[in-house]
Amino acid sequence: MPAARELVLVIDFGAQYTQLIARRIREQRVYCEIHPCTLPFEEVRLMRPRAIVLSGGPASVYAENAPTVDPRLFELGVPILGICYGLQLIAHVLGGRVERASAHEYGHARVVVERPEGIFHRFAKREALDVWMSHGDRIAALPPGFQTIGVSGNTPFCAAGHAGKNIYGVQFHPEVAHTPRGAEMIAAFLFDVAGLSPTWTAGAFTEEAVGAIRSRVSPEEHAICGLSGGVDSAVAAVLCHRALGDRLTCIFVDNGLLRLGEAEQVVGTFRKNLHLNLIAVDARQRFLAALAGVTDPEQKRRIIGRVFIEVFEDEAHKVRGAKWLVQGTLYPDVIESVSFKGPSAVIKSHHNVGGLPEKMNLKLIEPLRELFKDEVRAAGEQLGMPRDMLWRHPFPGPGLAVRCLGEVTEKRLDVLRQADSIVVDEIRTAGLYDAIWQAFAVLLPVKSVGVMGDERTYEETCAVRAVHSVDGMTADWAKIPYEVLSRISNRIINEVRGINRVVLDITSKPPGTIEWE
Ligand code: XMP
Repeated sequence: MPAARELVLVIDFGAQYTQLIARRIREQRVYCEIHPCTLPFEEVRLMRPRAIVLSGGPASVYAENAPTVDPRLFELGVPILGICYGLQLIAHVLGGRVERASAHEYGHARVVVERPEGIFHRFAKREALDVWMSHGDRIAALPPGFQTIGVSGNTPFCAAGHAGKNIYGVQFHPEVAHTPRGAEMIAAFLFDVAGLSPTWTAGAFTEEAVGAIRSRVSPEEHAICGLSGGVDSAVAAVLCHRALGDRLTCIFVDNGLLRLGEAEQVVGTFRKNLHLNLIAVDARQRFLAALAGVTDPEQKRRIIGRVFIEVFEDEAHKVRGAKWLVQGTLYPDVIESVSFKGPSAVIKSHHNVGGLPEKMNLKLIEPLRELFKDEVRAAGEQLGMPRDMLWRHPFPGPGLAVRCLGEVTEKRLDVLRQADSIVVDEIRTAGLYDAIWQAFAVLLPVKSVGVMGDERTYEETCAVRAVHSVDGMTADWAKIPYEVLSRISNRIINEVRGINRVVLDITSKPPGTIEWE
């Protein structure tokens, strides 16, 4: 087992950027957790954090019912960093003054280092730093014992600190990409101020996770894991396999809604390369029969979720001694369910295949529930999993059904699969695959007239969808070069019978969604 983890506690006041703070800390190889600002002080103390970050938030510290902190937090002797609202809270609670700024300060600003200490330890005096601001309130007076360490044109107390107490705060957002040297500030806080060490590595995580699974699952018990072909369930399965060996059985349901060659690939990789116990169920006809005649997107999703659970349950019951269910839940899903919802919090939609029913009476193993996606991939690499599997574009649980608009039939799915494989193939050939979040084809039940050779055609339409995104919550359509689009279009029209027109989707999210249904 690696040394006991050093925990950084991120207290969430409902900012849009709280997850980013956690990611930036993890990128420094330091373990951190986000908890809502409503977490009782006693619990904070029991967690023994080695450092605390107070996040930003949409409220005003002097507003009625504004979220706040227990003043005893500042007496714990634990280094604290306040970001935006976090700094304002420090000022408010410790006897400074916060007031409404004459104008809402939003966007780029320049901070000049006054004192190269604390979180500015790694900079030189008078050095100018580009930062990102977003606040409506400002500090009018610092609490006793605090000193300004950085100023901006509009904000004399843009960065401040109390060196004796190791409490620092910034008015801007060091966690966003628009603050290019933010990582150095966070590193200075973690290593120079709080004296932490960069020990949170993929190796440390996998070792700890394997140990934890072994100690929870007793020697006669078995576990089952549903494999979707996606990264999360794959890494969760391999991790559990390390811990449990043959006491883990994976179940892969081929629902007939997968991409070209995907089912064969999943089965081959897991059985031959990774040597996992795998039950592959061919449920293609069952799903197709249930989807016959259905065109409503929500109804499609409901049917797929229901049939998946039925098939999975049937198979799971055949695994003797199964007491545990492995799920690839990630940290963003965990945070989403605990995070503090400020008035302007983003409402995120959840995508689930329906959730496995409690009536199966299985206990849950969620070995990835502390990880972000990039950490899951790093863990997968550490476990020796193939790169292709780890870096594959995300794919929705309901599969091609939500990309096959109108009725889902075997014939239309075949057409879509071929078109989709051409899109991905050309994106790969052009070297764009890793830079794009998702690229795929959508089949539209819209027929138009064309001419091929001397013949009139009357076929359906294929839309090409490609987006850039960091988490799937927002997305920008990818500006794929015309030559690549042209090759995609030519190949689809020439090679795929059933499509005679190719269009490009240039909608960002919001207001669009990535998937069409
Ligand atoms: P949307 O279409 O909501 O998709 O912009 C955002 C991201 O989520 C994926 N997605 C799903 N993933 N089950 C999943 O596991 C689903 O039902 C589902 N629907 C959408 C989508 O591919 C994109 O990456």
